[in-house]
Amino acid sequence: MQRVFSGIQPTGNIHIGNYLGAIRNWVDLQDKYESLFCIVDYHAITVEYEPEMLHQRVLELAATLIAAGLDPDKTTLFVQSSVPEHAELTWLFTCITSVGALERMTQFKEKAERQKGGVFAGLMNYPVLMASDILIYKAELVPVGDDQIQHLELTREIARRFNSMFREVFPEPQPLLTKAARIMALNDPTSKMSKSLEGSYIALDDDDNAIRKKIRRAMTDPGPQGGEMGPGVKNLFALLEAFAELELVQKFRDDYANQSLRYADLKQALAEAAVTHLAPIRERIFELLAKPDQLKEILHAGAKHARQLAQETMAEARDAMGFKMPVA
Ligand code: TYM
Repeated sequence: MQRVFSGIQPTGNIHIGNYLGAIRNWVDLQDKYESLFCIVDYHAITVEYEPEMLHQRVLELAATLIAAGLDPDKTTLFVQSSVPEHAELTWLFTCITSVGALERMTQFKEKAERQKGGVFAGLMNYPVLMASDILIYKAELVPVGDDQIQHLELTREIARRFNSMFREVFPEPQPLLTKAARIMALNDPTSKMSKSLEGSYIALDDDDNAIRKKIRRAMTDPGPQGGEMGPGVKNLFALLEAFAELELVQKFRDDYANQSLRYADLKQALAEAAVTHLAPIRERIFELLAKPDQLKEILHAGAKHARQLAQETMAEARDAMGFKMPVA
């Protein structure tokens, strides 16, 4: 059975871009593949963060993932820092990754610009840690949104370099994208929806009225209908497709083609479809969060399983690179 791996950062405000671009796909994949899904807390400290909030964010994210449909009986759900081998492999990979390649990463350039207090090396090394997350499980498939494609290319490059410099240890993983691999910001449809862009997202724990209000305010375009859609309207259609029945989507597409679409109607239909889909997830998040010990147990059991797999690969990687002393 092929192995699937993916990760998500516990940085708060998990939004419908994360959900439609990645998490929903994870839920489908857990039935078809051996899967591991990871809350990547080491990645979350590459930009300024609040240490006293980190643990709570991890639990909130675990609750969100389970509420969205991940089943700990079918998949391995765990926290990155519970498997220290991720960090160990990162060091080995850091020594075969060029600084130039890391400096060229789009996300690094964007995030570095926002770090007013200076850029730490961890931010630049972020994709090396991500490569370790994936390769330490020899995962072949990685379901992500399209903003992670460049990082996956680097992951493949690192695997290739390791295999050619030392010995064949790592497979080259392939990305798996959903139809909604790039959900755009509601208030600026030329940028992607992002937790760091206020007003751009609908969070999975937003209440019904917040969801309705954000969709009502979403940017559309005044241009004539019938031809090529502007980015705002295209994004609303992508969301409608994700949340509503096909027939409803087709009706609005026809209206668009006939130049009779009222954006207010489109938004209202989308808001109701989104509320219907998201309300049960939100309720489940709160139920799960009321039992933090149960969440911790699930994560701990997941980490124990993951760590066994990680230690096997780590032993191979150490040996291939010439480290022959046993770990104490
Ligand atoms: P993160 O935490 O930023 O996002 C989690 C997942 O959500 C996807 N995503 C989107 N998809 C569609 N439209 C959007 N607007 C949107 N915004 C986010 C992301 O592509 C991602 O799949 N570096 C990763 C975490 C990571 C990882 C890994 C992923 C660490 N190690 C190993 C895969 C494999 C990240 O920051 O995702």
